[in-house]
Amino acid sequence: MSTEVMDLSRRRFLTATTSVVGGIGAVAVAVPFVSYLNPSDRARAAGAPVEADISKLEEGQLITVKWRGKPVWVLRRTQQMLDNLPTLDPLLKDPKSEQTSQQPAYAKNEDRSIKPNYWLAIGICTHLGCSPTFRPEVAPADLGPKWKGGFFCPCHGSRFDLAGRVYDGVPAQLNLQIPPHKYTSDTVILVGDDKGVA
Ligand code: FES
Repeated sequence: MSTEVMDLSRRRFLTATTSVVGGIGAVAVAVPFVSYLNPSDRARAAGAPVEADISKLEEGQLITVKWRGKPVWVLRRTQQMLDNLPTLDPLLKDPKSEQTSQQPAYAKNEDRSIKPNYWLAIGICTHLGCSPTFRPEVAPADLGPKWKGGFFCPCHGSRFDLAGRVYDGVPAQLNLQIPPHKYTSDTVILVGDDKGVA
């Protein structure tokens, strides 16, 4: 093969390679651009309120909705769960929810909720941001005889009760955060908007 022929085939190879790389680059740029154009995604990321349908939520059941990219739990508490809450006060760091940053004023009560049987919270540990596990059982072997149901953070062992109140003596220092919310009907909670309630 002469030098000229070799140069020609090398140039063809380089041209082909450049086209492929250019093609990949174009695809990579196009994907975020498409999602950027989706108005509902954009609104959600910016913090638009989201609806939680609680019509099918059964007693003791927890669902998760996403608001501002964060998990928001909605738990339908049983009467037994509610009855257990005041008995835990001596074990908790902030049983009366005095830390005002952690809930709107209308959730500063024993149940930390608007309606006692429905409770909402951002499902992110107030220590370093892991996602606590829902542990509704009473006195399971791994959590001990004083456990009356709550949330256990697997990262460093923080514990919260079924109102999201943090136990004393664990790494987390704050109760779980209650997001702004309101009922738009008996079966729909709007997360992220509490106009008319606050
Ligand atoms: S992040 Fe939950 S205990 Fe550390």
